[in-house]
This record gives sequence, structure tokens and C-alpha cells, in this order.
Amino acid sequence: MVINVLPSLLAPAAPAISPLYDQHGRPLEYLRLAVTDRCNLRCFYCMPEEGIKYMPKHELLSYEEMLRLTGLLAGLGVRKVRLTGGEPFVRRDLVPFMERLAELPGIDDISLTTNGVLTAPHVPALARLGVKAVNLSLDTLDRERFFQITRRDELPKVLETFHALLDAGIQVKINAVVMDGQNIDALVPLASLSRDLPVDVRFIEEMPFNGGSHEAGPASLPWNHVRIRQHLEDHFGALLPVSMAAGATASEYRVAGHQGTVGIIAAYSRTFCGTCNRLRLTAEGGIKTCLYDQGVLDTRALLRGGKSDEEIVAALSAAFRHRAANGFEAERQRPLHQLSFESMATIGG
Ligand code: 5AD
Ligand code: SF4
Repeated sequence: MVINVLPSLLAPAAPAISPLYDQHGRPLEYLRLAVTDRCNLRCFYCMPEEGIKYMPKHELLSYEEMLRLTGLLAGLGVRKVRLTGGEPFVRRDLVPFMERLAELPGIDDISLTTNGVLTAPHVPALARLGVKAVNLSLDTLDRERFFQITRRDELPKVLETFHALLDAGIQVKINAVVMDGQNIDALVPLASLSRDLPVDVRFIEEMPFNGGSHEAGPASLPWNHVRIRQHLEDHFGALLPVSMAAGATASEYRVAGHQGTVGIIAAYSRTFCGTCNRLRLTAEGGIKTCLYDQGVLDTRALLRGGKSDEEIVAALSAAFRHRAANGFEAERQRPLHQLSFESMATIGG
């Protein structure tokens, strides 16, 4: 979900910034900010049933700390911020925080990824803020199956959010994880939403992050991007590629006769690393320069250790400059004892 801020609410024009480039020539433009590791769902591919061990609250960055870091990153070229979690709306006072984020000089695009359970009441506030698009995680349109996947009976609330967003004129991107044996029969119904509604329905390769082993690698993934595309084409006919925005992870397609689009995100095959322009900040202040790295900088220690802005900027710049070339290299560089991955709820997707 991308929340674009209305020009009238934009911060004053930022001083000219020469963006930071990594050693592979990719610019720093986009921050994915996990505001919490908590979630009100228990999607089986993300968390065990009993949930994960959440960080004590004082170990999460405060909003003040996030604003300071984001301001410093804006000085290094970041202009787009996406709030993730866990579920962002589980954290209190999210909307006032977003208002302050939007005031940071240089930040001109605020977006949000949500599971939609708590979101509907906040839709008017998102519209007021100028949020143009929201990413909604939704893996099935069947209530029973939704319960099996998320372990919570919340599909009606998610659909309420979906319609509230559309009614408010906020663009909706649906993100569905494609899971062998779980929701393959949901792919066509989900993609069909794009026929009569102007929505972008994106299918994400499942990453074995919930304690799964990566040893076999993408070759063992039953539903990779190639098979997902074939499955959709078997039903809808040719998917016609739409040109991708710079740094995009989704391959977008037009389906004849559809108002909206469908997209496929090769999250495990990692086909898009060459243009990756993003940095991740975990809820406890870890910087990841790749979804697949183990965390390369502890900003909380810097923030709470009394470091100056200059010192923090130097550490952030060094971390971004030394990024792995792609998700495979980042994965190889993880310490051996960390080869089983943390929950997506701590990374923010
Ligand atoms: N594989 C792929 N996507 C995942 N997400 C969470 N866990 C996984 C996984 N194992 C997605 C969610 C949501 C975003 C935050 O990350 O569905 O869209
Ligand atoms: Fe599901 Fe997202 Fe919550 Fe994980 S963080 S349990 S994927 S809704």
C-alpha cells in the first residue's frame, strides 16, 4: 500500500539532496518501516499458532526515534516510506505519527501495508492525509479458508476495509501469498476482482520464513512466478506485461477486459534485486539492506547511546553502501546459526 501525500499537505521543498548509491549503483529512495512486531492475525506462513515472542515495548523504537531516523534518511535520498509491521494499526496513535512523518522535508510518498482487520475506521483519516493507495494482505475470499490460514475469523472486517478504501477513492493493492495446497483455488477469484474493480491484485511467492529451511532454494518452490503466471493465463488468456516502475518488485500485467491489473512478486526467486532501492528498519531498530540479510546495523544502540546526527548518518551510509548484490548473496552472508529465518512480522515483508 502506497500512501501518497496530497501536495497541499506536503512538507516544504527539501534542500537538493544528492542520493546515496550503493556499491552496485542502486540509489537509496525507499524506507520500509516496521512500526511494531505485533499482529492480530496468526497467518501460518508467518507465525506459529501461539504467536512469536514479542519484544518488550521499551525495546521497540519510539515514534520520536523513528522520526529522527527517517529525517536523517531523507537527507540521504529516501523520499518514500512504507509503514509495515506486524500489523501497523496494532500500534497506538499510528495516524498522528503518519501526520508527523508527512511533515518531514523530503518525504513525499507515505504508504502502508495492512491486514485490514482494524483499518476501516481509519480510512477517512488516511484519505485526509492524502494516502492514495493501500496494500491489503488477503490470501483468499473464502471465510472458512481465511480462518484456516490466519487462525482468526476476520474476513468480514477485511472486506469492510477493502470497500471503505475503494469508496474513499484510495487505490487498493491486494497482496496474496501463493501457498501450495492452501489457496491455489483462490487465485482466479482474487484475480477476478480486477475485472470490475480498479484494483491491482498481486501474487507473492511464498518464502519459507516460518522456521523453514532454505537449503533447497527456489528450485524447490512448488508455486514459483512462472507457474503462477501460467495458472492465471490458463484461465484468463495472455497476461500482457505493463512496464514496471523503477525499483518495483511486482511484474504487472493487464488482462483483456479488466479494469485493474494483476501482478506477480517473485519474492523467493528474487528476480528484481538489480533495481532494489530500499532499506528496511525493523521495529527494534535493526537496519536491513536486504530482506534476506540478518540485520546489518543496530540503530537503537546508536540512538540510545547518545550518538550525534552526523555519526548516525555515517553509520547508515556505510551500511547502505556495502549492500549485498542480491538476496542470494545476502542469504549466504548470514551467520550459519541464523539460517532459519525470523518471522515476517519482525521484518515487515
Ligand atoms: N512469504 C511471502 N510473503 C509473506 N508475507 C508474510 N509472510 C510471508 C511469506 N512467508 C507477506 C504478507 C503481507 C506482507 C507483510 O508480507 O502476506 O502481504
Ligand atoms: Fe499475517 Fe501479516 Fe500478521 Fe504475519 S504480520 S500474521 S502475515 S497479517
